[in-house]
Amino acid sequence: MNIAMIGTGYVGLVSGACLAEIGHNVICVDLSQNKIANLQKGILPIYEPGLDNLVEKNTKNNRLTFTTDIREAIEKSDIIFSAVGTPPDEDHKADLSAVKSVAKSIGKYGNGYKIVVTKSTVPVGTGDIVAKIIKENQTKPFEFSVVSNPEFLREGSAIVDFMEHDRIIIGSDEPRAGKIIEELYSPIIDDEHPLIFTDLKSAEVIKYAANCFLATKISFINEIANFCEKVDADINEVAKGIGLDKRIGRKFLNAGIGYGGACFPKDIKAMIQTGKEHNHAFHLLNAVEKVNDLQKEKLLDKLTQIHPELKDITISIWGLSFKPNTDDIREAPSIIIIKKLLEKGAKIRAFDPISNKLVQSKFPNEKNLHFASDQYEALEESSALMILTEWDEFRSPDFSKIKELMKEPHIFDGRNIHHPKIALEHQINYYSIGRQDAKRQFDNVLFVG
Ligand SMILES: NC(=O)c1ccc[n+]([C@@H]2O[C@H](COP(=O)([O-])OP(=O)(O)OC[C@H]3O[C@@H](n4cnc5c(N)ncnc54)[C@H](O)[C@@H]3O)[C@@H](O)[C@H]2O)c1
Repeated sequence: MNIAMIGTGYVGLVSGACLAEIGHNVICVDLSQNKIANLQKGILPIYEPGLDNLVEKNTKNNRLTFTTDIREAIEKSDIIFSAVGTPPDEDHKADLSAVKSVAKSIGKYGNGYKIVVTKSTVPVGTGDIVAKIIKENQTKPFEFSVVSNPEFLREGSAIVDFMEHDRIIIGSDEPRAGKIIEELYSPIIDDEHPLIFTDLKSAEVIKYAANCFLATKISFINEIANFCEKVDADINEVAKGIGLDKRIGRKFLNAGIGYGGACFPKDIKAMIQTGKEHNHAFHLLNAVEKVNDLQKEKLLDKLTQIHPELKDITISIWGLSFKPNTDDIREAPSIIIIKKLLEKGAKIRAFDPISNKLVQSKFPNEKNLHFASDQYEALEESSALMILTEWDEFRSPDFSKIKELMKEPHIFDGRNIHHPKIALEHQINYYSIGRQDAKRQFDNVLFVG
C-alpha cells in the first residue's frame, strides 16, 4: 500500500521504517528541512537500537523515502498517517496546532479516497475536529475516512514494540476504513499480537488511559517506597511480593526518582485538562502527578542530608536520558537535578553513554558542568555519585575503582540498581529509594574517602 507518514519524529520514523519493512511504500514527511536532508543521507535524528539498519535497508530498496513536500506525499498516498508532535500548551492541554495543520493540508491536496490515520496522542474528540477541518479546506470534493490508531511503542525498544505489539487499536466509525487498515497491518497480526476494532472516541481514550495507568503504577510504588524507608522495609522485596500476583504484575513497579520522558508527564497533564473540559475531576491523576513531582526531589534531599552545603562540591552524575537505550532527555529527572545542583553552587561531572551532547546544548557556557568521556572519568574529585538512569554499564561497575577515584565514597542510586550490601563490601556509603540507607543500616557508620 502507498502510505504517507506526516511527522518524522520518534513515532513517525519508527512507524514509517517498520511499515516499509512489512512491505509497504512509505513516504516520510517533515517540516524540518535539516532532518529530512540528513535522513536522505542516512543520518538519523534519534538513537534507537536497530533503527539505523531498518532505515538503511528500506531506503536502499526504495520502500522508504523522505521529503518535505507534503502535497506530493498526500497526492501519492492512499493512507495518510499523522504522527506529528502534540506537546503541552501553556494550559497543559495537548497543543493540536500541528495535527490541525496536517488536516488542513490533507483537505487542500486530497485527490480521491484517503484514509486519514491519527497516530499522535490526541484528546478525545480530535478525530471529529480533523474530519471537520479536512471538509472545510477541500479545494475539490473527495471522500475520506478518519481513523484513530494510537501508538504504544516504548523508546529504547521501539522496533520490537511495533513489530511484536501487545495490540493494535483501530478506532473508526467507518467499517470500510477499518478493513483496509487491518489489511495494512496483517503481516504483524496474529493471536498473540491482535488488532482490536473500536469506535473513534474509545480509541482516543485508550491511549491516555494506558499511559495514566502506567504512571499511576509508578507513583504508587514510589509512595510505598517512601513508606518503606520510614519502617525499615525493603521496596524491592515488597514489589516482588505484590508483583507475583497476576492481578498486579511486576512491570512498572520499580521504585525510583519518578517518571519523565516525552509522554507520561504531558499525557497525564493533558488528561486532567481534558477531564476539566468535560466537567470531570481526575482526583487520582492529580495525586499521581504530585507524588511524581516530589519524587524527583528525593535523591537531592538525601544528598543534602550528607552535604548540607553544596557550594564548590563536586557531584558526579551517571545517566542523563530519561531511561536507558534512548537519547531522549525530554522531561528527564536529570535536567531538574542538574539545575538544582547548579543553583546550589555544586560542580557537576556528568556522563551518559549517548546523551552528553544533547544535555550540554541545554546548558551552554555552564562552567560548573563538565561532561566526562567515560563513567570513571566522571568520578574524579567527586564527593557523591548520583545514578539517574539504569544503563547496563552502570549495573556492574568496578566498585574498587569507584572507591579509589572518589574523594568521598557516597553513591545515591536513583534507580535501585545495586544492593545495599555493596556499602559493606566496598566501604562505600550507599543510598537508594525505599531501602535502608547506609547510615541506618550499619549503625550510623559512615565510610570516608
Ligand atoms: N515518543 C514516544 O515514545 C511516543 C510513544 C507513543 C506516542 N507518542 C505520541 O506520538 C506523537 C509524536 O511524538 P514524537 O515523540 O514522535 O514527537 P517528535 O517531536 O519526535 O516528532 C514530531 C515530528 O513532527 C514534525 N512536525 C511537526 N509539525 C509538522 C507538520 N505540520 N508537518 C510535518 N511534520 C511536522 C516535527 O518536525 C517532528 O519531527 C505525540 O503525540 C506523542 O505523544 C510518542
